[in-house]
Amino acid sequence: MSTDDANNLNVAILGSTGSIGTAAVEVISKLYPKYSAWGLSAHSRLDQLVEQANFCGSKRVVAACRDNLAKLQTGTFPVGCELTSGPDALVELAQADEVSIVVAAIVGSAGLASTLAAARAGKRLALANKEALVIAGSLVTAAVKSSGGEIIPVDSEHSAIFQAIHAGRASQVKRVILTASGGPFRTWTRQQMLAATIESALAHPTWQMGRKITIDSATMMNKALEIIEARWLFDLPSDKIHVIVHPQSIVHSMVEFDDGSVVAQLSPPDMRLPIQYSLTYPERLSGPCRTMDWTKSWTLDFEPVDTERFPAIELGWEVARRGGTSGAVLNAANEAAVELFLQGKIRFVDIVDGCRRILNEHNYDPNPTMDELQKLDRWSREEIIRWATVR
Ligand SMILES: NC(=O)c1ccc[n+]([C@@H]2O[C@H](COP(=O)([O-])OP(=O)(O)OC[C@H]3O[C@@H](n4cnc5c(N)ncnc54)[C@H](OP(=O)(O)O)[C@@H]3O)[C@@H](O)[C@H]2O)c1
Repeated sequence: MSTDDANNLNVAILGSTGSIGTAAVEVISKLYPKYSAWGLSAHSRLDQLVEQANFCGSKRVVAACRDNLAKLQTGTFPVGCELTSGPDALVELAQADEVSIVVAAIVGSAGLASTLAAARAGKRLALANKEALVIAGSLVTAAVKSSGGEIIPVDSEHSAIFQAIHAGRASQVKRVILTASGGPFRTWTRQQMLAATIESALAHPTWQMGRKITIDSATMMNKALEIIEARWLFDLPSDKIHVIVHPQSIVHSMVEFDDGSVVAQLSPPDMRLPIQYSLTYPERLSGPCRTMDWTKSWTLDFEPVDTERFPAIELGWEVARRGGTSGAVLNAANEAAVELFLQGKIRFVDIVDGCRRILNEHNYDPNPTMDELQKLDRWSREEIIRWATVR
């Protein structure tokens, strides 16, 4: 399912074996031959990568981790498909001349280098890897600007804002309103959250996602990261980025203009829709997604967000306001803390408490280099582990 027709568009899906990556493979298969999955990448699930490469007829696959490659029989990839490995190979795939669109769907800071490479190469960046903007929003957006590339958000909230914001002038946007499902602990007290188990935190009520983002949804750190993402994507000050809880996940976000009009985007919760839109924009093509059933009654509820029970939200506003090194520190502390929680080494509530502590302790720099961001990333992870051990 790869195409050599010059009018058709080759897509590289970085992180094709994940929740977003798998959905992207499906969407692209329905849009073939206009779009084809020319390149794919995986980290640990190499058997799935082989299956995907055969299904898509991909021309290049990347095994991001060389150690995992040893377990794989290369003969199983389709004839003519080049197999490369390691983090540099991810960057090369993101920059390949044959590729027009890069779906950045690697989870966490592991996706930063390839996302930045796609931005520098002037690609259309279909961005799911929000962590890249949280860590290095100024560098990624500057790279897009100077290369003539573009970012089309995949995150459903930012896709909604991207669609709604064009209903008026940028200077007349009063605020954007990110909706949040509230996650599995929407109605839990802080006392109940003290005893939250891994299983209960992974039981998201409306979305099927990877483990890291599912825990981020439970702490609402995901919404904090999205506040920061919105700050960079739409060049908005933090006080114009609001959050409300909307348990049904039908209204994916809204933009309020100076005249009081609120423009929203609605659809059933299905990530295939924003993925497809990021590929086809400005076209809107029919695809595999579920649509609203207007013959039935819908109830849409909205509640103010409770920052006492979900203190992560305040971290999002703070980091969106301060920028500099604070995003890299928050992101790394959160990634490490989520991992510790999933290993049963810290409590659920410790995730955000630990992030607050590390953020307060770090040496803030308003204009960091990439080297500095990488050093702080390592420092934050070590500090979280140290804090979790000595407490
Ligand atoms: N899932 C959603 O509905 C959703 C919605 C909005 C935004 N997002 C964002 O999309 C991104 C992906 O989320 P996800 O839920 O799809 O995650 P996921 O299911 O955990 O998938 C992550 C992908 O990244 C790969 N990967 C993991 N560690 C890597 C490393 N060190 N180097 C290179 N590749 C690595 C994985 O490979 P293997 O599987 O082969 O190990 C997999 O392909 C995240 O930034 C998330 O915040 C997700």
